[in-house]
Amino acid sequence: MKMIDNIKMSNYTLVKKCRICGGENLHLILDLGKQPPANSLIEKSQLDLSEPVFPLRLFWCNDCFLVQLLDIVKKEFLFKHYLYMTSASKPIVEHFTKYALDIHNEFLKKQENPFVVEIGSNDGSLLRQFKKLGSCILGIEPASNLAKLANDSGITTMNDFFSLSNAKKIVESKNASIVVANNVIGHVENLHDLMEGIKILIGEHGVFVFEVPYLLDLVKKLEFDTVYHEHLSYFSVLPIINLIGRFNLEIFDVQKQTVHGGTLRIFVSKKNNFKIKDSVKKFIKLEYEFGINNIKTYDKFSDDVQNLKNKIITLLHKLKNEKKSLFGYGASAKGNVLLNYCNIDSSILDYIIDTTPLKQGKFTPVTHIPIVSSDQISNTENDSIALLLAWNYENQILDKEHDFRSNGGKFLIPIPEPIIK
Ligand code: TYD
Ligand code: ZN
Repeated sequence: MKMIDNIKMSNYTLVKKCRICGGENLHLILDLGKQPPANSLIEKSQLDLSEPVFPLRLFWCNDCFLVQLLDIVKKEFLFKHYLYMTSASKPIVEHFTKYALDIHNEFLKKQENPFVVEIGSNDGSLLRQFKKLGSCILGIEPASNLAKLANDSGITTMNDFFSLSNAKKIVESKNASIVVANNVIGHVENLHDLMEGIKILIGEHGVFVFEVPYLLDLVKKLEFDTVYHEHLSYFSVLPIINLIGRFNLEIFDVQKQTVHGGTLRIFVSKKNNFKIKDSVKKFIKLEYEFGINNIKTYDKFSDDVQNLKNKIITLLHKLKNEKKSLFGYGASAKGNVLLNYCNIDSSILDYIIDTTPLKQGKFTPVTHIPIVSSDQISNTENDSIALLLAWNYENQILDKEHDFRSNGGKFLIPIPEPIIK
């Protein structure tokens, strides 16, 4: 395995079978090169040390249509100390407030002692909303720093990965009325163990509600930078039906959300518990029309992503030659993928601003760009350009930074087509 010669093999495995159907009819659809884990910001003292990089490639299963990574970086290596904090992004906190209220009104309001379990509960932002609405809550969060933060702020959190065995422990006291999981099932390697655990946890009448970034948005809007080692699966409705059908579960509703560049909220329960809404059929039809079952859809996607990369690089070099001062906005994980794929380092971006206290003072992996506090934006030169690495918050950020913009500062939005605003 020459390709991964500078990789610590103990942290890496290459799988050869589809995560849902076990099929081996897997096609490479996008190669993003060798990349460091996208959330692995480094300390100043580590700048001279060698950094681990792993192949980052997207494959498509010709049997169940799941788009997925087969290059697996050990999860303990990726998630034990996690810097992504839900509460640092105001739009997400707003999204969660409404989310909890919607679920409460639809499923929990009339129940006595509702119990909400969240898988991958991060710093407890969503559960806090359910708690306010009167539910008992339990978070399960593998990152010890986040689980501690949540527990310290009154959100009871188990510091572990969710698994069938943890589900069994929880139901010894009670079944969950709702199990919620946002942007986590794409992180899970063993989807069968996950679904088995969820099936036990929701019992006869509970509902599993989860949000996943939608593959169709990724492909349409060329969101290649949302592909990174933590995200093992890139879901659409058809492969999910295939997965949950194996556990006597069914989808009874699908709703589209705008967060994270296009997200699906999916509602699952035991078969025949709920009337299946028309939305489910609508999404299935949409996916076939889109061509999720056709390799040509992905061939075009791959060509478009490579063209986009060339456009971003050309534009940044042009701006640099014009002596513009360039910095990054939002030290997101997706930002690191974009920086590494397009070879943008500290010779191009002076620094990246970010509101997350845990990220400030650190450096981006491999590209070594310093991360600074968001106050820094008030010290920028008049014709500076901010490369928006958190493009999922474009509206909020452009609104928030009106002073920067009215002083002549501009934003470069990299995807789906680089534009300066
Ligand atoms: P995010 O898009 O939430 O996630 P990912 O890491 O999965 O790609 O990352 C956005 C980053 O941008 C996060 O570190 C917080 C930061 N941020 C700001 O600095 N300012 C803002 O106004 C917002 C909304 C986010
Ligand atoms: Zn498959």
